[in-house]
Amino acid sequence: MFLYNNYLSNSIIPPVITVDGTSSSGKGTLCIILAQILHWNILDSGSIYRIIDLLAYNKNISCNNEEKLLSIVKKIDISFKIYKNKLSIMLEGKDVSCNIYKHYINNKIFHIASSQRIREELLHYQRKFRIFPGLIADGRDMGTIVFPDAKIKIFLDANLEKRAQRRFQQLQKRNVNVTLNEVFSEIKKRDYLDKSRKIAPLIKANDAFIIDSTHLSIHEVVMKVIKYINVVKLK
Ligand code: DC
Repeated sequence: MFLYNNYLSNSIIPPVITVDGTSSSGKGTLCIILAQILHWNILDSGSIYRIIDLLAYNKNISCNNEEKLLSIVKKIDISFKIYKNKLSIMLEGKDVSCNIYKHYINNKIFHIASSQRIREELLHYQRKFRIFPGLIADGRDMGTIVFPDAKIKIFLDANLEKRAQRRFQQLQKRNVNVTLNEVFSEIKKRDYLDKSRKIAPLIKANDAFIIDSTHLSIHEVVMKVIKYINVVKLK
């Protein structure tokens, strides 16, 4: 990994590893681990959409009001910090990690994520995170739209049942009162909305390395990615 870091950091443009995939497939955890191993920056693009949704909610802005949403997007100031395996999402320097996950994410976020103008504005914003020594980019369209030139693209997936179970266990640990069936239906709906969106839908990049984590632990997923990185490095 160390060698890979040096190898890619020799390029003029900062290197980027994209990690796209379905909801609750383990992308977030994988990205945090990779960012820590490589000492690279991290971009959690989903949290940008969540923050826009939260700000729109707080300011009582309808998610169909593209102009007002765009004015939020143009001023947005988000940063990410990892400390002890935990990602903190900062809005104007304030930690909003809890707020954006507590906040009830409903269909509104899909209006935001489906707006071409918002996504175009965010395209430039997200690319600014690509700074040395490198970037780990987590999302749905990182390898296809935002960083199509990334040398390493990972696409992470797992079957719906497994993802629902994992998410359910996480929510139980956080004392969120929800049933497994509800979680299952929610993830199924999100899969559909993410994949059927006309603009920047969730699709596998042609050159992505696909990992099905249904029967893998996070450690096994990380090991697969490290092996893959070393193979690409040798090419
Ligand atoms: O990864 P997440 O669950 O935090 O993402 C929240 C929402 O944002 C998700 O429903 C889809 C959307 N999203 C997107 O459209 N494009 C991305 N690159 C990341 C997330």
